[in-house]
Amino acid sequence: MTDRKATLTFDDKTLELPIYSPTAGPDVIDIRKLYAQGNVFTHDPGFTSTSSCESTITFIDGDEGVLLHRGYPIDQLAAQSHYLEVCYLLLYGELPTKAQMDDFESRVTHHTMLHDQMTYFYRGFRRDAHPMAIIVGVMGAMSAFYHDSTDINDPWQREVASIRMIAKMPTICAWAFNYSSGKPFVYPKNDLDYASNFLRMCFAVPAEEYQVDPVLAKAMDRIFTLHADHEQNASTSTVRLASSSGANPFACIAAGAACLWGPAHGGANQACLEMLREIGTVDRIPEFIARAKDKDDPFRLMGFGHRVYKNIDPRAKVLKESADEVLDLLGVHDNPTLQVAKELEKQALNDPYFAEKKLFPNVDFYSGIILEAMGFPTSMFTPIFALSRTVGWISQWGEQLSDPAHKIGRPRQLYTGAAYRDYVPLSERG
Ligand code: CMC
Repeated sequence: MTDRKATLTFDDKTLELPIYSPTAGPDVIDIRKLYAQGNVFTHDPGFTSTSSCESTITFIDGDEGVLLHRGYPIDQLAAQSHYLEVCYLLLYGELPTKAQMDDFESRVTHHTMLHDQMTYFYRGFRRDAHPMAIIVGVMGAMSAFYHDSTDINDPWQREVASIRMIAKMPTICAWAFNYSSGKPFVYPKNDLDYASNFLRMCFAVPAEEYQVDPVLAKAMDRIFTLHADHEQNASTSTVRLASSSGANPFACIAAGAACLWGPAHGGANQACLEMLREIGTVDRIPEFIARAKDKDDPFRLMGFGHRVYKNIDPRAKVLKESADEVLDLLGVHDNPTLQVAKELEKQALNDPYFAEKKLFPNVDFYSGIILEAMGFPTSMFTPIFALSRTVGWISQWGEQLSDPAHKIGRPRQLYTGAAYRDYVPLSERG
């Protein structure tokens, strides 16, 4: 596979480590034999320099602000494709033909219903439960409702589980929203496209007809598309780690959703909008920027910074345009939150602290503004991210299971605790 080698010398040992050249991105040194040959571990908390798998799905060039799915740039996909086509691309590796697309769309559309017994499962939650708490529970519980698609060694069951999760996630999320707002569950409607169906399930009430606005459906579809996959981020790595033990697909995706909920990851969109509201007016921005720069203050500008992007997040660029379109449609251009967001972005980008640390707006900076304008409460922001990312998790899960080199994930550690010592009975302890 490679003739190039890195030489590592320490103490009296010299090790030769293979170097691989990827299609794009930095070379990778294979350290798998390091422990066996050198009796040492590498230490990399947060995996800042560690590749955990080989993948052909998504590539990010963080310095240039580039995001590719199967080689196609995200701005082209956002402008010319649509979410279900991107799902197909992520899952199967190529853009579909018309016949393949029709078949895929039909399979997804005909799996949108949830097992009726699941309504009782929802009713077990408190009405004020965060929708993410409900979603993590319901997704995990799917393994109890769909026994016929939990065998990971059967390719047919893997395929059925994948389609089920992509198809049912809008229903799962919309029902979590219905339930927490005290509305009856709205059932999916198969003649609607994926995004329109989701909007209808979220906002329709039985008492009247609900017409989905095509501009809002397009913006919703774009939000789904922009969040579809993002290579080995925390939630995706969680899915891969859970799956490495042979866990069933629903359990793995539930684990990913649980990880996504954190404010440093998918929870940042909710945290960002709450921050913009707390700032309230543009004159208070300098105070918050000063807090973000203060080492003794744990406050961070939510929606800013990224582990991989050291340039503008290409998804944020597209969403900024969508925000204008949606707010125009809804006639809310003088929205104070948007004004604070625009001014905050300007002031932060002109501040040497953010420039030196290469902190730019990320996808969460604008998504919350659009979702709020559409009528979603902040508690629904992370569920919408989870819905969109489900296909990415599933694609990465499927790729891992098909990789003959995959094995159970088991990191090592730098132990700094007490060395061996004998137990002291309670009566002899001072
Ligand atoms: N505001 C102020 N300072 C920041 C921020 C921020 N948002 N982000 C990073 N920094 C500083 C940080 O204090 C550190 O400074 P120093 O070198 O002096 O210690 C430096 O920049 C590097 O930060 P880091 O925490 O070491 O970087 P990381 O790669 O571990 O963290 C991050 C990435 C996304 C967790 C972080 O930038 C952050 O907390 N941002 C706010 C939360 C957010 O918007 N998250 C959404 C990420 S995009 C969607 C997703 O992938 O889920």
